[in-house]
Amino acid sequence: MATIEQQFKNVMQWVDDRLPVTETYEKHMSKYYAPKNFDFWYIFGVLAFVVLVNQLLTGIWLTMSYVPTGEEAFRSIEYIMRDVEYGWLLRYMHSTGASAFFVVVYLHMFRGLMYGSYQKPRELIWVFGMFIYLALMAEGFFGYLLPWGNMSYWGAQVIVSLAGAIPVYGEEIAVWVRGDFNMSGVTLNRFFALHVVAVPIVLLVLVVLHILALHEVGSNNPDGVDIKKNLDKDGKPVDGIPFHPYYTIGHDLPGIVLFLIVFCAVMFFYPDGGGYLIEHPNYTPADPLKTPELIAPVWYYTPFYSMLRAATFPLFGMTAKFWGLVVMAGAIAILFAVPWLDKSPVRSMRYKGIASKLALASFVISFFILGYLGTVHPTPVKTLLAQICTMIYFAYFLLMPWYTSVEKTKPVPDRVTMK
Ligand code: HEM
Repeated sequence: MATIEQQFKNVMQWVDDRLPVTETYEKHMSKYYAPKNFDFWYIFGVLAFVVLVNQLLTGIWLTMSYVPTGEEAFRSIEYIMRDVEYGWLLRYMHSTGASAFFVVVYLHMFRGLMYGSYQKPRELIWVFGMFIYLALMAEGFFGYLLPWGNMSYWGAQVIVSLAGAIPVYGEEIAVWVRGDFNMSGVTLNRFFALHVVAVPIVLLVLVVLHILALHEVGSNNPDGVDIKKNLDKDGKPVDGIPFHPYYTIGHDLPGIVLFLIVFCAVMFFYPDGGGYLIEHPNYTPADPLKTPELIAPVWYYTPFYSMLRAATFPLFGMTAKFWGLVVMAGAIAILFAVPWLDKSPVRSMRYKGIASKLALASFVISFFILGYLGTVHPTPVKTLLAQICTMIYFAYFLLMPWYTSVEKTKPVPDRVTMK
C-alpha cells in the first residue's frame, strides 16, 4: 500500500502530465532566484497584492447587500453598517483598504524611481505598473460614487463635468459618461458595473502581466547590480536566493504581519481618518440641491487635483479648465515615459549623482505639497504655490535626460552589497 506521500506524488504527477503546476510553482517560487540584498522597500509589491485580495473579497461580500440604485444605495450602506452581521467590518476593511492600496502603491512606485527599477530591461514591468495605477485610479473613482453620499455625488459631478472643457464634443462626452444630463441613478448603475466587474478584471490581468514580465527578466535590487552576470557552476546567480522559502517566510511574512497591525489600528480606531479616508459630507445622502462647502477628492487624487486648479488663465483661445485638464493628464502620462527619460549609466540612487538625488527629493516634496493643497480652499498664495510645485513636478521628468547624463556617478560594484 502506497504511503500518503507517495499517493500525493502520484496525484501531482497525474496533474503535471496534463497541466504544468509543479513547473509553474518552481519557476515563480522555489526556483525563482531573487537578489540577496532586498531591503524594506521590496515589501510593497507583496503588500499591494495582499490589499488587492482584501478588496476583492470584501467587495464581493459588500455586493451581496448593496443596492445600486439612486433610491436605495445610501440606505443599503447604512443597512450594511448597522444590520448586516459584521457588515461594518466588511465596509471598513474595504474603505480603509482603498486608501491602503494607494499608500502601498505610491511607496512601491517610489522604490522603482529610487532604485531605477524601470531601466532596461524592466521597461515593460513599469509600463504595466502604470496601467495598473490608471486602473486603480478609475476603480477608486467609480467606487467612490457608490455610497451615494453628498461628497460621492458632488465629487463625481465635478470630475465628470471636466469633460465639458474638451472643445466641441466635451458636453456630449460628459452626457455619454453620465448616461444622463446630471448625475443620476443611471450613472450610479454603470459606475457599479465598472467598479465590480470591468475594472477588477482589467486589474487582475494587468497584475498577472506585471509579474510575468518581472519574472522574465528578474528582479532589480537596491544596488541595481545585474545578478545574472555572476553565475555558479550550476548556472544559478551567486547573488540570488530562491524566492520561496527565503523571501516568503523571512521577508514578506513579517512585513505582512506588521502591515496588518497598522491596517487594523487604523480600521478599528480611526476608520474615517479624520475625514481623509471617508469624507464627512458622505455621511449625508446625495443631494443635487446642496453643494458641500468644499469639494475635494480623496487624498490619493489631490496632487493631480491641485495641478488641475493651478491652471488659472486661458491660453490660445482655450479655457483655463481645458489647460488644467491637459496638465493633469500630462502629469500622469509623463510617468509612463520614465524608462526612456532616465539616461543614467547606473540604476540605483546609491550610485547616481547629487543632481538625481536633489531632483527626486524636490519631486517628492512638491508632490506632498500639491497633495495638501488639493484638500483645502484655494487662495492666491496657495494657487501660486501649486503652480510652482507643478513646475517642479514636470521639471523632474523633463530635465531627467539632461541631469542623468551629465552628472558624475559612482562606480557600481560587481556583486550586491549586504549590510
Ligand atoms: C496592484 C498593484 C501592484 C501589484 C500587486 C504589484 C506587485 C508587484 C510585485 C509582487 C513585485 C515584486 C516584488 C517587489 O519588487 O516589490 C513588483 C515589482 C515591480 N513593480 Fe509592481 N505591483 C503593483 C503596481 C505597480 C505600479 C503602479 C508600478 C509603477 C508604475 C509598479 C512597478 C514595479 C516595478 C518597476 C517592479 C520591479 C521592481 C524591482 O525589480 O526592483 N508596480 N510589483
